Amino acid sequence: MHWLARAGDVDAAMRVWEEMRSRRGKCRPTLVSYTACVKILFHAGRAAEGRRVFEEMVAEGLRPSCTTYTVLIEHLADAAKASAVAVEISDCGGPRCQPPAPHVPVPVFPYDIDPMQFALNLEYTEAEFFLHAAFGVGLDQIAPNLTLGGPPPVGAMKANLDEVTWRITAEFGLQEVGHIRAIQNTVGGFPRPKIDLSASNFARVMDQAFGYHLDPPFDPYMDSRNFLMACYVIPYLGINGYTGTNPIIDGYATKHLLAGLLGVEAGQDAVFRALLFERRSETVPPYKGITVAEFTDRISAARNQLAKCGVKDEGLTVPPELGAEGRICTNVLSADRDSLSYARTPAELLRILYLSGDEHVPGGFFPEGANGKIAREFLRKPFAAGGNRVPAN
Ligand SMILES: [Fe+2]
Repeated sequence: MHWLARAGDVDAAMRVWEEMRSRRGKCRPTLVSYTACVKILFHAGRAAEGRRVFEEMVAEGLRPSCTTYTVLIEHLADAAKASAVAVEISDCGGPRCQPPAPHVPVPVFPYDIDPMQFALNLEYTEAEFFLHAAFGVGLDQIAPNLTLGGPPPVGAMKANLDEVTWRITAEFGLQEVGHIRAIQNTVGGFPRPKIDLSASNFARVMDQAFGYHLDPPFDPYMDSRNFLMACYVIPYLGINGYTGTNPIIDGYATKHLLAGLLGVEAGQDAVFRALLFERRSETVPPYKGITVAEFTDRISAARNQLAKCGVKDEGLTVPPELGAEGRICTNVLSADRDSLSYARTPAELLRILYLSGDEHVPGGFFPEGANGKIAREFLRKPFAAGGNRVPAN
């Protein structure tokens, strides 16, 4: 192919390529041959064909190499020069609002899909918890098409909230609707799993955190303080999950989605933690002598224990050596020694969310297991209620 292309006969080089493709099994195109074909087409000015071959390569499950990326970058640099000239001609001096063209012209790689869909488990959980706590109703009433036919949550209810906490919860609940829609539109989705948001499940979380039975059982819906402590349990895991997913996705649309979700998830967690920090020294009635700070410390320690992968979770106060730059015990945000968010894998998250410490043993927030390919493979069970859905657009 190279010889023919260098001799100026690109059509003949493409005939060799088509012959190779037609002999699937005997002479299957490899990453090297795909990259060579893309390069020949780009150099010949046949960009649309080159992109099609590149997309076919990705669809075949071949992950681009450094050489492939170099070919793409060279092509995009040439294209950018051409479009810069066009902009120069047409620009009337107005402000520029568009980001530069992505370096990799693929919105979603096939291997982006499962990790991003996995996040739906947490997003469904947050949506149902916040929406029910604020409005007394959930996705079935507010955005029924987004449930994709999954069962309603168990035990979620309106919480007894003060005005500020109610406003924050209502906003965050509605934000979760957008998060679910954005994931489904970008990478497709799966039906909402069965989610246990009952007071008794949160009581189990707290009993597990303290190592003994709290009497009376913890009730997340009783007042704003208890509700905020229950909120401490969930959005933080979203941060861990998105931070962990970031290095294994490549599509520009998937990365745009992840950055947007991570930003808001981190913001939600920061708001909850800041509100709790203000109350850190308050005791939590009727549990004599137990402060808000101790609740957060215990929850974080329990999550570290369940996940079995070291310390990736810290309460609102820490020994100074674990605080920012090893010199402060205030710990409004949980982060590593460089003050970067901790990352967790889906298996770690499931160990926590199942309250079982085992991604193969469902329970806790997902009594029948989380949904999606990653979670169902751990359970060796097919998708719950329905199946996988392709992106809506
Ligand atoms: Fe979210």
